[in-house]
Amino acid sequence: MRRPKISVIGAGFVGSTCAHWAASKELGDVVLLDINGDAAKGKALDLFEASPVEGFDSKVVGGSDYALTADSDVVIITAGLPRKPGMSRDDLLSTNAKIVKDCAAQAAKHSPQSVLIIVSNPLDAMCHVAMSASGFPRERVLGMAGVLDGARFRSFIAEALDASVEDVQAFVFGGHGDTMVPMPRYVSVGGIPLQQLLSKEKIDAIVDRTRKGGAEIVNLLKTGSAYYAPAASAVQMAEAIVRDKKRYLPCAVYLKGEYGVNDLFCGVIAKLGAKGLEGVPTLELNSEEKVMFEKSAAAVKELVDAMAKLGV
Ligand code: LAC
Repeated sequence: MRRPKISVIGAGFVGSTCAHWAASKELGDVVLLDINGDAAKGKALDLFEASPVEGFDSKVVGGSDYALTADSDVVIITAGLPRKPGMSRDDLLSTNAKIVKDCAAQAAKHSPQSVLIIVSNPLDAMCHVAMSASGFPRERVLGMAGVLDGARFRSFIAEALDASVEDVQAFVFGGHGDTMVPMPRYVSVGGIPLQQLLSKEKIDAIVDRTRKGGAEIVNLLKTGSAYYAPAASAVQMAEAIVRDKKRYLPCAVYLKGEYGVNDLFCGVIAKLGAKGLEGVPTLELNSEEKVMFEKSAAAVKELVDAMAKLGV
């Protein structure tokens, strides 16, 4: 039986950590690709050499030639610059658009049936770039943001309650930017609605920290952005696809009328399985949530329009 194949484009901190988690979970064989082929090759070899100790059977190879990625089931695109303190994700727009365009076109050429998971920022705008460069349908172009933002939300809630993270279910809607929409009304801890466990003030503070979660890490690292949680989140999406798990995960999806939004990537709950996006189960939003979601979608649209003006 053929093992699934996962390619990771960009061998920086996020990319190499994706390779690490994908291999150690034995999701399949892993290819790590970077314009710096030797660095990718070295990290892949190092990871492969860890496999006898950790006990995982995943072939891991690296390099700069897209031929290595041929016939991947999932391609995770992490290439691009990370932000530095004081920068917003949107400041990366034109530089990363050029990089993601090239990566998505090459990946699609060598793996025409793959599902692309985009991680590069500004996330929702980069999903548009990848969809147009690959020519893939919306089922096979997904953005990683909601799992990450939801994981931050879940971590902070678990910490506040001194509860297991395993029992905290929570998600975030909207774009992966300052306007993201954490959804406290839908948080449950062991099935108990969060409002019954924490005061409004505490919930509001957690919502605010979640929105700024990426910047909190950037300000501490100073030379780049988060990578453990972003990589774990991208790999959870890849796992849902290669294992056909039919998971309901928050992801950036190209909306075609859902939630009243058309032709725009935005974070919603998506059903992920072997075909990639297998459905957009819709959730009832109250008027306050609707206003915040529309504001967030408008911010994504502004970036997409700015890209069109820049000609990228
Ligand atoms: C973050 C970056 C990866 O949120 O967007 O940490």
